Formats: sequence, C-alpha cells, structure tokens
Amino acid sequence: MHSHQTSQPSSPVLQKPIVQVALRILRQLRPHLAQPYIDAGNWNEFCITCGQLDLSWESENGGNSLRLITSEKMQQMASQYGFGRIDALIPDTHNIFNNSSVTAEYLNDHLFSVDETDFLINQSKWWCRNPDKWEVASLRYFPNQEYWQVEYMFGVKDGHLPHINCTLVEAGKLNEDNLMFSEVWSILMLTLLSLRIPPNDKHEVVPVTVVTFSGTTFRILQGLVDGEAGNVRINKSSIVPISMDKENATQQMMLIMRWLLAEPLGPSKQPIPGIPHNVYATKRITGDLAELQEQQNAVGSIRPWFLEQAQKHGSAIVQIFLGPFSRPTILLSDYREVYDILTHRDADFQRGKKAEVLKGILPHAFPSLESFDPRYKESKAIMRGLMTPSFLQNVSAPPVYRATVRLLELWKLKCHMSRGRPFDAAGDIFAFSFDAVLSAATGLADSGGDLSRQISILRAHEESRTFTTGDPPVDQPIIFPTADPSLERKALGTDEERLWKAFYMPSPRLYHWYNSFRPAVRDARRIMANYISSQIQNAILDIKKGREPRSALGYIIQHQIQDAERTGHSLVHDDPRIRDGIYGYLIAGHDTSVGSLLWLLNRLVTHREEQEKVRNNLRETYAAAWEERRLPTVSEMSKPATYLNAFIEEVLRINTPVVTITVSTRRDTTILGHQIPKDTPIFLNLTGPSLSVPSIPVEECLRSPTSQARGSRRENWDDSNPTKFCPNRWLRTTPEGKIIFDASSGPTLMFSAGRRGCWGKNLGYLELRIVLTLLLRTFDLCEIPDSLGSQEIYDSLVTAPKRCFLRLSEL
Ligand code: HEM
Repeated sequence: MHSHQTSQPSSPVLQKPIVQVALRILRQLRPHLAQPYIDAGNWNEFCITCGQLDLSWESENGGNSLRLITSEKMQQMASQYGFGRIDALIPDTHNIFNNSSVTAEYLNDHLFSVDETDFLINQSKWWCRNPDKWEVASLRYFPNQEYWQVEYMFGVKDGHLPHINCTLVEAGKLNEDNLMFSEVWSILMLTLLSLRIPPNDKHEVVPVTVVTFSGTTFRILQGLVDGEAGNVRINKSSIVPISMDKENATQQMMLIMRWLLAEPLGPSKQPIPGIPHNVYATKRITGDLAELQEQQNAVGSIRPWFLEQAQKHGSAIVQIFLGPFSRPTILLSDYREVYDILTHRDADFQRGKKAEVLKGILPHAFPSLESFDPRYKESKAIMRGLMTPSFLQNVSAPPVYRATVRLLELWKLKCHMSRGRPFDAAGDIFAFSFDAVLSAATGLADSGGDLSRQISILRAHEESRTFTTGDPPVDQPIIFPTADPSLERKALGTDEERLWKAFYMPSPRLYHWYNSFRPAVRDARRIMANYISSQIQNAILDIKKGREPRSALGYIIQHQIQDAERTGHSLVHDDPRIRDGIYGYLIAGHDTSVGSLLWLLNRLVTHREEQEKVRNNLRETYAAAWEERRLPTVSEMSKPATYLNAFIEEVLRINTPVVTITVSTRRDTTILGHQIPKDTPIFLNLTGPSLSVPSIPVEECLRSPTSQARGSRRENWDDSNPTKFCPNRWLRTTPEGKIIFDASSGPTLMFSAGRRGCWGKNLGYLELRIVLTLLLRTFDLCEIPDSLGSQEIYDSLVTAPKRCFLRLSEL
C-alpha cells in the first residue's frame, strides 16, 4: 500500500557533511554532559584528534586559520588604547567559577573598557557579543556541581568567512593530558550555530578558536569539524598560569587578544602556478590531510601516499597541502633532480624543519646543524674516523658480530621450543639492533644487553617447564614470553617516537618544549645522559690505562686525550658535542637497521628461491667455514659475497626504509622549471618513480643547470623493468670474466646522497652483511603460511613490516 504522506525534504544545511558530523558527535557526547573531562583514551571513540598549538609570540600563524597580530603591532595597540591604565588582576576566592570569570573579565577590560566607545573592536574585523538567549541554552552548563559557559563570541564582521572565536569560563581545572568537555562541546556547537546564519550556510568549514579560562590559568584551542573525514580536529596550547604581576598579566591578555582579534584567513589555498596538485585539497580546509588519514586507516602507513602522487598527476613535481590554510609543500619524485639537489645545490636548499626537529633532542650533534653553520664542521670533526674501513673492520665489526651470535643463540632456543611453529621475530630484531648499535657506539652496559635478558627469561621458563605450548596446529604462531626492554632501550624508543612525530607537527620546537614536561621524556633524557656519562668515564679510564679503543666513543675519547696533550689544554669531560654525537649515532643507527633487517628477512622468507641463491653464494665465498661446520669469522667476512651484496641492494631499492626526506628552499629558486619561493618545504622521495617504478618523463631543458651539465648514466631503471625484483641488475662481469657487485649499476637513494647523505652507511651495510651471513649459515628460514607473510607496515623514522614471522630449522 502506498502512503499519501510525503516526507519533508530536510534543509540543505542539515544535509551538509560537516553538520551531520557535528550532530553525530554531539549526540554521542550528550550522555557525558556531567563529566568535566574527555580523557585522551576516549578521543577515538568521539572521533576527536588532538594536536598542539603554538602560543609563542614568534609565531604569526594562528593554527593555520588566523594571521596573528605581531608583537610590535600589539605593543603599538597597547599604548594607543592605554592597556597600562588597567589595574592588576584581583582574584575573587568566592567566585563560583573558581576565578575564571574574574580573569575573563580582566580580558574584557582590555578589550572594551579602556575606550568607552568600544573603539578597539570597532577597528577590528570582528564583531563581539554575548551569546543570545537561544544560544545560551547550548553554550552553558549550570547544574549543581559543574559550571561552564561561553562568555563572548567573535565573528567576522562582513560575513565572508565563517570563523568563530570565543572565550569560555570553566569551574573545572585544566589538565594537559585531556580536553574539557566544555571545550569540545563548544567547538561543535559553535560550528553548528555559525552555519545556521546566512551567509555562513554556504561554507563547508568553520574554524573555531576557544580561549578557556580556568581559575587563574588559560589555554587556547582551535577546532575544526571535518565533514569528509568524519572527525573533529582540535589543537590545544599548553596551559598558561596568569601572572599576578600587572605588567606580565597585561602581556598575557595581549597574547590572548592577538588570537581573538587576528586576521581571519580564507580557505582557498594559493597553489604555485603550473605545479599539479589535488584540486580538492585547495578547496577544503584540511588540504590533503584527510586523504592521508584515510590512507593511514587503510594500510597503517601514510608513506605510500607520497610515492603515488607523481604517477597520479603524471608529473615528477607535485605540490601538496598538509593542513588547514597551509602553504604548498613540493614533492619531488625524480632520481636525477633529487640527487642534484642533495649534491650540487647547497646554496638553494637547507635542512629547514629537519634541523628544528633534531635540535629538540640532539642540539649539539652535527645532524641538527645546517651545513653552513660554523658549528657543523666542528661537531662533525669530533666523529671523524669512525666510518673508515679499517675502524669498522677492527673495532665496530666484532661487537656487531657478538650481538648477532647472541641473536642466533636466542633463535636456536626459540627454534627448539617452538617445535616447528612460526613466531614473530620483530621484537628480537629491535633488541638485536639496539645491542648491536649500542655495543658499537659505547660498549654494552654491565647488564649485558637486551638479547641476553631475553635468553635468560626463555631459559628460565624452559628449565622450570613453566612455558607449555600444548599441541596446536603447526601453522599457528607461538607467542614467547618477552623480557622488558632495558631502561636505555625504552629511553631510546621514547626519543625515536618524539623525533618522527615532530616532523608532522606545525611547530617542532613547541612540540619538544611541551614534551619536555612529560615524565617519560624526562626519564629518557636522564637515563641516556647518565648512561653516556658513565660510558665516557669508563672510556677515559681505559684509554689512560693505554688500552686500544673498543667502541666509537673510546676512539673519540682517545682523540680528545691526544688533542689535550698536544695543545696543553685540560680534557673536557662533559663535551655536549660528544654526548649528542654518540646519542645521534644510536638514534640514526637503530631504527634504520631494524627497518632494513625486517625488509630483508621478509624477502628471504617469502622468496625462498632467493634465500637459496644467497646461501649458495655464501657457501662458495666462505667455503672453509661451511666445510668446517662453523660460522665465518669477522676477518673472513671482509671478503665480499657478491650475490649477498646484490640481494641487500635490491631489497633496499624496492623496500626503501626511509621513504621520503625533507629539505627547504634557502632562497627563491627553480625546480624543474617552476619558481619556488624561499622557505618552501620540499619532500624528496628516495624511492618510487625512476628508482623502483618507471620514471615520469622530464624535459631535459627543465632540469637545473648542474643537473644538465652533469647528465646521468644512472638516471633511471626504465629499460630494465624497475618493478621487478632482480639482484642481478647489480652484478657485472669484468673483462677478466669475474662477476662483481657494482653499486653504480643504476640509481638508488636509500641512504640519501651528497654531503648530508647517511653518515653511517658503511656501518649499516656491515651490520646487514654480518646478520645475513651468520643467519643463513645457521638456519633454513622455512615456508610460512601466506597469511603470516602479509605486508602490514608501520611508520616510525622508517617504514617497515609490522611483523616478521619466522619458522626456523637448524642447518
Ligand atoms: C642500515 C640502514 C640505514 C639507512 C637505510 C640509513 C638511511 C639514512 C638516510 C636516508 C639519511 C638521510 C636522512 C635525511 O636527510 O633526512 C641518513 C642520515 C644519517 N644516518 Fe643513516 N641509515 C642507516 C644506518 C645508519 C647507521 C648505522 C648510522 C650510524 C651509526 C647512521 C647515521 C646517520 C647519520 C648521523 C645521518 C645524518 C647525516 C647528516 O646529518 O649529515 N645511519 N641515514
């Protein structure tokens, strides 16, 4: 039966994705109205993502949707409007808002009372008013115990932009680790209220800035409901205590005013003319971020997205937009031009944001310094000699070899206990890489390293028979008990995470500052500082006793002592350049080796024919060791195993652990014929087109003069099937008929290039060769079910497989 009733079409505003998302989250939140906080653990549930906001006076970028009034301009306004005449803040201890309304009023004095005609507001681009009687119902909460209310709302006067700024007073206490319910609620509600008013109804985005007063503290937040991604993105500043000193408090009020009265920025992003981009990214507030988020949800890694863009647009140069109102970032996917920038264009490019990211952890180490900074040379000179072939062979190889033997000992135990079942070895690779890099850098701690701890735990279980496997199917992975990582490994992990996340922060400096208050970060700093100091003391004692250095640190100290003796100066025991240099060694050498090893093992397990080829090559190269049924020694391994080297090179070409690196323009310059302004961030792909997939054609005349002058024998792999895994591409037959490994057979960038390319490349190769040689001499890596070989990947400083299932059989 047909009904004669016709349903009312819902209003076009209600159909907007942004409105639907805001309504959905508000509905989810409503039952929690009486709770003061939304804990970080629940942000996911309410589709909230949260980042940081830079409140420093140096920042002109107000969370990307506002252009902030500069400090000079603010000072000028202060004297023009007589802020100095306002009396000091007097908190009222009986106030139901726990003083927050008092502090908000104090701001109000600055905004309005100075000039009775509201001259200040009249001059600005914003209108300001209290919520009207309709709005008030949804912008305040006044039951018995909790209280909050939106006090003032600011909108753009001529209505061409939908921004809303507001002040919010809270009786609850702000907390760095979570968001106030009132903050999230107000952002969502103000978004909806704003879209109700013509001409805002035509907008798809509404940036909301909230200044929350709580007692005598405040913080600033920016929120944005993203209709396409279905979430609300909030950036919050750290909490600022309001000073009781009149002068300082006035400064703080001016800081707040620069946010409330800032110039609102329009949503259209200005692309650099002629460079392809995702057109939708210039039309929506989050630019390309929403798509990146989708990619993260779908495959667990954002890095493949950067590799796809060139092919998508059919252009080796593409521009992308990484955030609301952000300026374009250039993405370059062409071996020859990337190589040229890294090796010949120091005058045009610098490290930019990368230096800022690293400085938060290693301020004195050379990787944090620009090449033109005079301190760069000095810091690098301290690390001299550590990557020479003889030092690596004599000093670095033995501890790496010993760590590998311990890894094999662990895996023999696991092999025995697993009785043919696969296990996830990713955790062991992390522990191994840590032991290896730490022992090469400084020597292991007295506790003997993370692998030994793991071995002890398993032995104890085996001996006491507390670990039973039952009798499950042979393909079902076995899960072994794991030892907690050492304090030093935990500390390194904390800093590695802090480092790679800082790359994605609008202000790495602020991110590091904010993080420096986290207990885990403080602990990490203390633990590593103590560890390195104690190793420095040990090294000094060793060298003074006339012993030869046994680690990189020992060698540095030996030089320092020799220099001190030669110059007559006393030895500096606590040189920050040495401390940071050694910590840089650990950070740069740990994750990268883990990522490389995970890809190599993955290939050996999933391509067993390759495993056989590499093993055959090792058997031929180290015949004596095979015949005597023992491991090849360090000195035997100085003889190169040709196919092994080609295999490593090919795996890292196809599965490059460091996918993209960043630089920025040092002055206005040209890339592939396009004018690029000073201070533009540039992403350089180290794999993808021309390296692991076919290149995107580039007209020769568009290349830089140095690139054209140099030409390139190794410009791409187009004529030899770049997507095919083929270690033979790295082999060459000499006129004498000998097959050799030739690293210059074609392009690669897995270690970057030029003078800021990987400093530890030779150690990296050495470690990979030692592990693969000893591993394939000891075990057959047997077949595992297809489902366990799947390549779920993770992002950190590197991109690598999340798991590494091995089923081992001793040879
Ligand atoms: C085995 C795997 C390794 C890979 C794939 C790798 C890759 C890279 C890449 C791509 C860069 C350039 C990063 C950028 O510009 O953003 C780099 C830089 C660097 N790497 Fe490695 N690396 C590896 C191992 C190591 C090891 C074992 C060490 C030291 C022990 C090390 C020390 C460094 C240092 C100090 C830099 C900074 C150089 C500078 O600022 O001038 N790397 N590495």
